[in-house]
Amino acid sequence: MPRHVAVIMDGNGRWAKKRFLPRVTGHVKGVELVREMVRACLERGIQYLTLFAFSSENWRRPQDEVSLLMQLFVKALEQEVDKLDRNAVRLRIIGDLSRFEPRLQELIRQAEARTADNTRLDLTIAANYGGRWDIMQATNHMLAAQPEKRDGWQESDLEPHLSMNFAPEPDLFIRTGGEERISNFLLWQLAYTEFYFTPILWPDFDTAEFDKAITSFQQRERRFGRTSEQLTESPNA
Ligand code: IPE
Ligand code: IPE
Ligand code: MG
Repeated sequence: MPRHVAVIMDGNGRWAKKRFLPRVTGHVKGVELVREMVRACLERGIQYLTLFAFSSENWRRPQDEVSLLMQLFVKALEQEVDKLDRNAVRLRIIGDLSRFEPRLQELIRQAEARTADNTRLDLTIAANYGGRWDIMQATNHMLAAQPEKRDGWQESDLEPHLSMNFAPEPDLFIRTGGEERISNFLLWQLAYTEFYFTPILWPDFDTAEFDKAITSFQQRERRFGRTSEQLTESPNA
């Protein structure tokens, strides 16, 4: 099993359009699939699930779609946190939260505090998140933490300041909806992640589709720069 799965949940709009429904219906259905995905991770013992819900570029969408997405976010926080907590899920939201309404920011703070001691599954929602933003905010924090240091910076100096500093890097990245791009999701952390792209639209991405992604992952050989022979001769070297 992968330890950490990261997902770009794409295709809600097209799912709705195919049915002559408003785009927001696709987003509503998409929230249901998040529930199913969390359940599937709990059942499979996957420790970290990270979902891209809203990118820093998604503000460019029509204003009514953006505000409906925000309402859905508020509603999900109001209605789902109890159940997450009962299932020992720890919820975190990563991204530049300063742009959200105060009420949403407060709900996020409460939900994170309430689930902070849970250890069964780490569920992270990326909202107003961008991979470049993450690297820049981490860089700024890194420099501010050691103002006297002039050079010799290492990757390990930056990593504690990245938004996902609490998690191992994703093992499996899934993007639904047919596009084959990262769209400014976790740039630093995906360096050695296995990618899985599927044309299935997010509202149709059920447990059976998730298992296909996991099976594909399990057939890969992760070499991290080594040769295949090295791995078979001494797998732990
Ligand atoms: C993904 O679905 C959800 C968000 C970006 C919020 P889309 O809304 O991007 O769906 P498509 O790509 O238009 O089908
Ligand atoms: C990426 O989806 C972000 C989320 C799923 C939240 P988009 O649908 O916004 O990405 P692009 O614009 O097609 O790259
Ligand atoms: Mg899309």
